[in-house]
Amino acid sequence: MSDGTGVDLEARLAEATTFDPPESFVEQANVSEPGIYEEFEENWPECWERAADLLDWDEPYDTVLDDSDAPFYEWFSGGSLNAAYNCIDRHVEAGRKNHAAIKWVGKRRETLTYTYQDLYREVNEFAVALRSLGVGEDDVVTLYMPMVPELPIAMLACARIGAPHSVVFAGFSADALATGMERAESEYLVTADGYYRRGNAFNLKSKADNALLDLDRGVSDVVVVDRLGDELSHYLGEDQHDYTTLIDGRAGETVEPVSRDAEDMLFLMYTSGTTGEPKGMKHTTGGYLAHVAWTSYAALDLKPTDTHWCSADIGWITGHSYSVYGPLALGTTTMMYEGTPDYPDRDRIWEIVDTHAVDVFYTAPTAIRAFMKWGERYPNDHDLSSLRLLGTVGEPINPRAWKWYYKHIGNGDCPVVDTWWQTETGGMMVTTLPGVNTMKPGVAGPPLPGVNVEVVDRDGEAVAAGEAGYLTVRKPWPGMFRTLYGDDERYIEEFWREFSDDADRSVYFAGDGATVDEDGYVTVLGRIDDVINVSGRRIGTMKIESAIVGVEGVAEAAVVATDADAAGDARVYAYVSTESGRGVDDALRDRIVDRVGDRIAPFARPETVVFAPELPKTRSGKIMRRLLEDIANGDDLGDTSALRNPETVGEIESAVGDR
Ligand code: PRX
Repeated sequence: MSDGTGVDLEARLAEATTFDPPESFVEQANVSEPGIYEEFEENWPECWERAADLLDWDEPYDTVLDDSDAPFYEWFSGGSLNAAYNCIDRHVEAGRKNHAAIKWVGKRRETLTYTYQDLYREVNEFAVALRSLGVGEDDVVTLYMPMVPELPIAMLACARIGAPHSVVFAGFSADALATGMERAESEYLVTADGYYRRGNAFNLKSKADNALLDLDRGVSDVVVVDRLGDELSHYLGEDQHDYTTLIDGRAGETVEPVSRDAEDMLFLMYTSGTTGEPKGMKHTTGGYLAHVAWTSYAALDLKPTDTHWCSADIGWITGHSYSVYGPLALGTTTMMYEGTPDYPDRDRIWEIVDTHAVDVFYTAPTAIRAFMKWGERYPNDHDLSSLRLLGTVGEPINPRAWKWYYKHIGNGDCPVVDTWWQTETGGMMVTTLPGVNTMKPGVAGPPLPGVNVEVVDRDGEAVAAGEAGYLTVRKPWPGMFRTLYGDDERYIEEFWREFSDDADRSVYFAGDGATVDEDGYVTVLGRIDDVINVSGRRIGTMKIESAIVGVEGVAEAAVVATDADAAGDARVYAYVSTESGRGVDDALRDRIVDRVGDRIAPFARPETVVFAPELPKTRSGKIMRRLLEDIANGDDLGDTSALRNPETVGEIESAVGDR
């Protein structure tokens, strides 16, 4: 196989540590001027007008950034706009009413296409219906919904009438839903009877009803989408309404989009975090929408003619920003898929890419490692030549997985953007610009133009190239969360105190460890609390994991340390899953241990290597390290209900027992 440069791809992949975007990509890229970095730096913060210019404003803003009350920054103050108008109406008005806005693929291969006109119609009808139920401007509407088109429709209907939404991921428990509703003082809930997963029907309504029983303040109205039809009958209580009946009663009715101040809340998003209380991240209308539209344009290179697929659930920030708001603001076609990647078979994702001729595909490293583990025959069965750009987000991607993605999915023709950001940041912060920068597998890239990232030591001093430190952001950015809802104090304490002084609270601490190389490229090592202490030295688990996944036959690895013993020493445990069909033996174990010794240091060598068919993951695809620590320490495991694959726990425990 060879790529556009005529060099054998196989050979290049084996040797190269950098990859340039293909000429053909650069020629058509939305952003291809290398000077953009300097231009943004010299013209900061006005550079961000370039993002705001992608939107239609009802009233122009008069200040780009108001930093008079840091860290309570305001962006585009004085301006007003409506997010739903920007995502729908203006495309209809521009003559693109019959262009596909959302393409939804259901678990039975059924496809629904919503043109911008269809979206306009249904969003209006549901917005009118919500209003008639009493939803007013600034009332928080909670959405507890699976991956059905009614989810983005409900989000946009809320945005249209100026009611912030708070989406609670459908996989979360009744408890999480109740807590989210209580904290947001939300009196309205939109949910569904249930959803399909791997061909089975799941009941969501009963979970929602349980949550409602727990609410001190009660609920005003509940709307229920009937996803499962006859497969699961559900009961509508008092003040509970059927979605279809509601919108049918409003057929053809419209409501003027409410003009919102740039700083008005567009949505809340509750994250549970690794410890403690759920945090309600408040995102705003102007800054957030400008940031996600701009990064969809510059980093995902989206065009109105593209079909874009961000495979994240819309219940997460990734789905909010890059399935819904970013792509729709740009008038793109966005894909939504209800099912799982391996049902009915492991080629499901590639079948969809092939059938719908997807141009841009954005997913998580954990999915890429699963694809890699399943083997290339699944993508090879399909025509993936429509793809132009690939992206990843959510955790560090090891170079082997990056190269596999680049080769087997992108055929060596598609740039890969490894995008670092967070629920807090709203949109992408660190990534290569695919039409500008050289890519380095495993390295996210330089901060985006206008984003100021610094990796610092404990004293807040910038670390030398290659040294690990704390990832901080030293200037505000438009997509940033504005506070933790109802808890300004905690907002400051948790995110702005660590590396700021009292006079200047403008340094944001992301909670991640990172390194920067000579070219200013950032490698994100993972959460700081994933740093372990072995033989008196601190090391990021990610470093050891990436050494291990470099071993032939290894699919995925998670490293934890046991609690320190009396002498202060902890032991390193590595949990490893292998590629399909690859047996495990002592030779593989030795290779893993040796490689860590060679690549990092002898002290970092895992004392115990546990092989397991799969690692325990949360529903958002993050490896549940706490659980692996408990197993290593022989502690009680506590609650495992947040796991996507709880069956792995028993398998791992018995593997540990076998040791
Ligand atoms: O640790 C970083 C990791 O995911 C965290 C943010 O998680 P969440 O708020 O759930 O948002 C996920 C989607 C944006 C970060 O603090 N992370 C995210 N992207 C990357 C990453 N780690 C390494 N490389 C990335 N590209």
